[in-house]
Amino acid sequence: MQKVTKAVFPVAGMGTRFLPATKANPKEMLPIVDKPLIQYAVEEAVAAGITDLIFINGRNKRAIPDHFDKAYELETELEAKGKKRLLEIVRGIIPDHVNCIYIRQAEALGLGHAVLCAEPAINDEPFAVLLADDLIDANPGVTRQMVEQYSYFNCSLVGVQEVAREDTDQYGIVVSHPMDTRLSRISAMVEKPAPAQAPSTLGVVGRYVFTHRIFDHLRGIGRGTGGEIQLTDGIVSLLREQQVLAYQYQGKRYDCGSKLGYLQATVEFGLKHPELAGEFADWLDQLHASRHPD
Ligand code: UTP
Repeated sequence: MQKVTKAVFPVAGMGTRFLPATKANPKEMLPIVDKPLIQYAVEEAVAAGITDLIFINGRNKRAIPDHFDKAYELETELEAKGKKRLLEIVRGIIPDHVNCIYIRQAEALGLGHAVLCAEPAINDEPFAVLLADDLIDANPGVTRQMVEQYSYFNCSLVGVQEVAREDTDQYGIVVSHPMDTRLSRISAMVEKPAPAQAPSTLGVVGRYVFTHRIFDHLRGIGRGTGGEIQLTDGIVSLLREQQVLAYQYQGKRYDCGSKLGYLQATVEFGLKHPELAGEFADWLDQLHASRHPD
């Protein structure tokens, strides 16, 4: 049994729901309080024992490689000014034992295509995929939860949660047969079905663990919904060859690819932030009182 030590971070999407903020910057660099979304995802992966981080990067988007690179000028400046705490924060973004690999997705042809771009860095190993705009507050992190399931079942896993029926058209929806409280065996999957057509309300979220066999299937499928190479279609094809499990993670997810989810995450993480929590909570209370005087 191979251990999961590699994780893929597709960060080449257009992020149209966040324009103009995402015109020159990937949406994964949007901060929640003081940390970019991608750093939360990287920390979750590293906490799960991942040592190789594979970023699928878009054109004209240097911000992510720059964020995880050494910042000589900034470090020299902070050192000269004796700002030790900030220096530690900047130096500690990536632990020394972790490698970053960057692969260019020249055209945003879809999430399935982005995952396929990672193949040269994965070879025949199992790997995790994290979509950083799905920020999940969990302890242990969801990637760790899923890597543990992988080490037991030795098959691909898709992170899922119950969604409201009126929202099924925003998710990949799975049909699955329960194994225990959190796990079920997937028999079918549909990308963004209309609420009336949705075969269930179990929606796929941005956490996966795959065997390397997914690549052959992604190569074999054509463009699907929206003219994109869909990861969902690749998983449906994989199902014909291998078992894929749906895992209902433990944790609270924020859809930071949407403005509302992003604001909700900002408020809740602000309320937990060690430097801000008290003051921010007071301010929110005042705001609430001023909006609801009686
Ligand atoms: P989304 O479906 O959220 O699309 O992608 P998007 O382009 O990023 O955002 P909107 O909908 O236009 O606002 C899901 C994930 O897949 C990555 C994105 O970066 C995001 O992490 N992705 C998507 C790619 O890496 N490449 C693609 O071609 C498409």
